[in-house]
Amino acid sequence: MQFVEANGAQIPAIGLGTWELRGRTCARIVEQALRLGYRHIDTAQAYENEREVGDGLRASGIRRDDVFVTTKIWTNHFAPNDLERSAKESLVKLRMPEVDLLLLHWPNPQVPLAETLGALARARQMGLARHIGVSNFTVALIEEATRACPAPLVCDQVEYHPYLDQEKVRDACARNGMALVAYSPVAKGKIRTDPVLTRIGRDHRKSPAQICLRWLVQQNVSAIPRTSKIERLSENIDIFDFELSQDEMAQIFRLANPKGRLTDFGFAPKWD
Ligand SMILES: NC(=O)c1ccc[n+]([C@@H]2O[C@H](COP(=O)([O-])OP(=O)(O)OC[C@H]3O[C@@H](n4cnc5c(N)ncnc54)[C@H](OP(=O)(O)O)[C@@H]3O)[C@@H](O)[C@H]2O)c1
Repeated sequence: MQFVEANGAQIPAIGLGTWELRGRTCARIVEQALRLGYRHIDTAQAYENEREVGDGLRASGIRRDDVFVTTKIWTNHFAPNDLERSAKESLVKLRMPEVDLLLLHWPNPQVPLAETLGALARARQMGLARHIGVSNFTVALIEEATRACPAPLVCDQVEYHPYLDQEKVRDACARNGMALVAYSPVAKGKIRTDPVLTRIGRDHRKSPAQICLRWLVQQNVSAIPRTSKIERLSENIDIFDFELSQDEMAQIFRLANPKGRLTDFGFAPKWD
């Protein structure tokens, strides 16, 4: 497993996304992923599966300290006291004394950013999280957040795949020593039939998803593909035995298009 280094954190380059994985399926997929070599699991309060993520981790037999666990605070808990309380609630559900990475899930203009970041940094100071970061932050918000936050932010988790140009966010992260963590890294499965990824894959004996994930990892990005299928767990992590050429990387960069975004950016899904 490769790692992305960011402001003191070592983030495994491939992680397991768990959005929409629920109940026993979630626990089973997390357990299997860890047995297959995953060491990075991404959850969130909004996914309503923190309990099952914790169950899966314990069932795997892998030591807690060997796994990088991320959770995210939902936007209705951004008032300072509320943030601390809800972070503790997440830890109770996960049955862990701390997470490796605690993120603000979406920007929330209703609460002053500096106050929320102060509370996030305090959560780290109190030992609730080893590292802190943000998600769905624009370049302007990254710059504002890094100025306002009393502790280093280690990542911005944003949508990133070949159909979406994220050069500006990637550069802003790099400028601030932060990692870009790519969500929806296989474009929610849309890469499956992509002709360019399929053709490049044929040359390397890899699937379009593997080419796509390799392209992300070669940019020093960490990617968190989600799957509910055991066989795809192995597929999505089997990307460390080949390399894309500069020309292949360039061909994949050219797939970006202005309509490539899959998330309605700026709109946080309703959840409370
Ligand atoms: N911070 C945020 O606001 C935010 C937003 C969205 C997502 N996320 C995180 O990022 C994770 C990943 O994003 P995502 O779930 O939106 O999308 P994704 O990982 O790009 O795509 C998941 C979809 O792709 C399919 N898939 C997975 N591996 C595949 C493969 N090798 N070949 C073909 N299809 C494949 C899966 O189907 P099967 O299950 O049938 O394999 C599933 O339908 C989430 O689970 C969540 O942890 C964060």
